[in-house]
Amino acid sequence: MTNFADERRTAAPLIRLHAVRKVFGAGRAAVTALDGVTLDFGAGTCTAVMGPSGSGKSTLLQCAAGLDRPSEGEIAIGQVRLDDLDENGLTRLRRERIGFVFQSFNLLPSLTAERNVALPLRLAGRRPERGRIREALAAVGLADRIRHRPSELSGGQRQRVAIARALITEPEVVFADEPTGALDSRTGQEVLTLLRSLVDDRGQTVVMVTHDPVAASYADRVVFLSDGRVAGEERDPAPRRVAERMTKLEERP
Ligand SMILES: Nc1ncnc2c1ncn2[C@@H]1O[C@H](COP(=O)(O)OP(=O)(O)OP(=O)(O)O)[C@@H](O)[C@H]1O
Ligand SMILES: [Mg+2]
Repeated sequence: MTNFADERRTAAPLIRLHAVRKVFGAGRAAVTALDGVTLDFGAGTCTAVMGPSGSGKSTLLQCAAGLDRPSEGEIAIGQVRLDDLDENGLTRLRRERIGFVFQSFNLLPSLTAERNVALPLRLAGRRPERGRIREALAAVGLADRIRHRPSELSGGQRQRVAIARALITEPEVVFADEPTGALDSRTGQEVLTLLRSLVDDRGQTVVMVTHDPVAASYADRVVFLSDGRVAGEERDPAPRRVAERMTKLEERP
């Protein structure tokens, strides 16, 4: 019998990167953050991206999400080639199809939790329904914090507002850069369960960066980066195996 997990393995690629290079700066100060990355992310799958600090994980997400442009190579989401889009086109693609959870929350300090979560809908010209915003905040355990501003919330609570905001438009693709980095392990597990349910219950596609082998084990696949290159992958990742591979990557001279 084919179960859902088996089908997922053969899922059509939704996000495709081909020979992507990203160089920051020029001349002697140039840093090659991505050095020829070719990768697919299947529709309706959850992928974890891991690698040592500075290996290019955030850069990979920013480029795949159309927040930054690669120096060379091609990126496509579905049938859309990102290099065919101008800035307006990229902005529209992001608003309509992508949710992004940043390493550094990026909440607007003057807005309440409720208004921060409603923002992507307003930007997309959609009228935010109060009930839906509250549901989204309740789903991340913040039903009693809707009127709080970011400065009145803990780091973990801010991260959860950021997650509710990324999910409010029900994006096809969710990119999350260390979504549990600032959370205690229990809250972290709740967030991971939430991300997992987007994939299992709603068929959304999740790509998350993490340093935590247990967090990575929520994914269908882990992709390892090292010095801006793909250094391998692991399907159905078990925490111990992931931890061993990470240790090896971090030991590399
Ligand atoms: N805007 C930038 N300007 C110059 N160099 C940059 C810029 N952004 C990233 N880099 C460099 O690119 C490399 C990859 O950075 P990136 O942020 O993608 O790493 P990372 O794997 O996400 O690391 P971490 O785990 O510490 O978040 C690093 O060497 C970094 O210094
Ligand atoms: Mg990073």
